[in-house]
Amino acid sequence: MKIAIYPGSFDPITNGHLDILNRACKVFDKVIVLVAHNNNKKSNFSAEERVEMIKEATQDNPQVEVYSDSGLTVEFAKKHHATHLIRGLRAVSDFEYEFQLASANEYIDPSIDMVFFMSRGDKTFISSSAILEMHKSGVDVSSLVPISVTKRLK
Ligand code: COA
Repeated sequence: MKIAIYPGSFDPITNGHLDILNRACKVFDKVIVLVAHNNNKKSNFSAEERVEMIKEATQDNPQVEVYSDSGLTVEFAKKHHATHLIRGLRAVSDFEYEFQLASANEYIDPSIDMVFFMSRGDKTFISSSAILEMHKSGVDVSSLVPISVTKRLK
């Protein structure tokens, strides 16, 4: 069984993330979404809330599992017998950051490889913070996030 981890802060999960996840499910038998800690970010939703929103959004997909963890992503991957980490790339600006993250992960454990999916054209502008900013300014973001997120934004 081919298992991959899709790590991120998912604060909150967006339709951009879900698109990457659904495409990863066509390549791997099981994809574990990992709500991970990014020390450089202050979170808007608690880890429990983020896990709940993702679970609700993926409840019809038996290939998906959702966890949160505060340790290293590659350690989590090994514990769950995953061979790959999934990340999405939206624009050239994502590349530098992803390259650095991939290199750090490779240094920690070169046996875990990375797989990147390019965001669909209509989803490249979506980010969790843009969603929250638009919502706070009264913009309807319901077509950019799953219902589980829209519900909690209200
Ligand atoms: N669609 C929509 N938005 C997307 C996206 C997509 N396909 N791909 C990325 N994004 C957005 C996210 O919404 C997020 O937006 P924000 O900055 O407004 O919140 C941003 O791009 C990047 O966030 P995300 O993909 O969640 O990654 P991250 O940088 O927050 O998370 C971790 C990085 C959590 C995976 C990484 O820090 C990690 O693995 N931490 C655990 C500790 C560890 O192992 N560190 C590595 C060794 S140092």
